Amino acid sequence: MSTPAVKQQAHEKKRLLSGMQPTGPGALHLGNLEGALRTWVRLQDEYEMYCFIADWHSLTTRYQDTAAIGPACREVAADYIAAGLDPNKCAIFLQSHVKEHAELQLLLGMITPVGWLERVPTYKEKRDLLQERGEGDESVSYGLLGYPVLQAADILVYRAHSVPVGRDQAAHLEMSRELARRFNRLYGDTFPEPQALIMEDTGVIPGIDGRKMSKSYGNAIYIRDDADTVARKVKEAFTTPSKMRKSDPGVPEKCAVCQLRKLYDPTGYSASWEEDRQGLRGCMQNKAELTEILNDMLNPMRVRRAELLADPAELDRILTHGAEKARETAEATMAIVRKAMHF
Ligand code: TYM
Repeated sequence: MSTPAVKQQAHEKKRLLSGMQPTGPGALHLGNLEGALRTWVRLQDEYEMYCFIADWHSLTTRYQDTAAIGPACREVAADYIAAGLDPNKCAIFLQSHVKEHAELQLLLGMITPVGWLERVPTYKEKRDLLQERGEGDESVSYGLLGYPVLQAADILVYRAHSVPVGRDQAAHLEMSRELARRFNRLYGDTFPEPQALIMEDTGVIPGIDGRKMSKSYGNAIYIRDDADTVARKVKEAFTTPSKMRKSDPGVPEKCAVCQLRKLYDPTGYSASWEEDRQGLRGCMQNKAELTEILNDMLNPMRVRRAELLADPAELDRILTHGAEKARETAEATMAIVRKAMHF
C-alpha cells in the first residue's frame, strides 16, 4: 500500500531522470548519444525531466585529476543541448550543485550491505582494470565500491519513475530499485521503484574496434570530432577479419562499420550489407559511405556545441538555473526522507 507521500497526482507529469559522467575528454560519444541522449530528447515534452552531469561519479576512478572535471562538465552540457535537449523543458545541472544527492547517498549507504556492492559487475570490471594498469590496491576506493549507492541517491532524490539509460546500466538500476525497496521496508513507503528505460532496438553501440564504444577503450567517435577525425577513425575501424580483398565475403554482423551503418542508415543499409556478404563491395567503400553519413549527422551538432562553448557564461547560467529547479525537488524529497527516519 502506498502512503500519500508516494502517490502521484493524476495531473502531474511522470518524472524522468538520467545522467552521464564527464570522464575522459568530457565530450559525449555516439554510444552516449544513441544509447541514452536521443531518448531523453524524445521524451522531454512528455515528462518532467532532470538531466544531470555526474561530476562526483567521475572521481571514483580519476580523483587525482580534478582540474579537468569543470571544463569537461561544460562540454557535456554543450553536447546535451546540441543534441536537442531544451533547458527550458528539462533541468540540466551538475550533480555537485545539488548537495541533497550527497545527503541521501550517506543515508542509503547506512542500509546498503557491502556484499551487494562487491557483486556489481561494473565494480569488478573497474577494479580489475585499475589493477591491470598497475595502479595498485590503493586506487580501489570506498567511493568506487559505493558508486551504485550514489547513483541510487541521484535517482531517488527526485523520486523518479523512469531512468532512460543504455543496457550497460541495467545492474546499477537494479541496485537502485533494491535500495528503494529496502528503504521503504525499513522506514515506510517513500520512494517509487525507478524503472530502467532501455531502448532494446538500439542496444550497445560498438566502437571502432567492435567492442562496446567506451571512453576508457579509446574506440569512441565523439560528437565533437571534426570531419577529418571521423574519417580517420572510421578508416581505422575493424571490419570482417577474414575479408582481405573486395571479393571476399563479409559478415556484417561482425563488422563495426556495418553495425554503425545499420544504426545511421536504417532504410538503406540492407543493400550494402547484401553486397558485403556477396563480396561485391570492399571495406574502403563501406568506410567512405559511413564517414559521409556520420559527418552529415554530426555537422549541425558540432556547429551548435561550438556556439555554446564560445559563451561559457551562458552555459553556466543554464546550469545554475537547472540546479535551482533540481534543488527544489530534491529538498522536498529530503524533507520526507528525514521525517521517515525520525531526524
Ligand atoms: P556513462 O557516462 O557511462 O554513460 C552515459 C549513458 O550512455 C550510455 N552508453 C551507451 N549506450 C549504448 N552503447 C554504448 N556503447 C554506451 N556507452 C554508454 C549509458 O548506458 C548511459 O545511459 N553511471 C552512469 C551515470 C549516472 C547515472 C546516474 C545514470 C550516474 N548517476 C543516475 C542514470 C541515473 C554512467 O556512468 O553513465
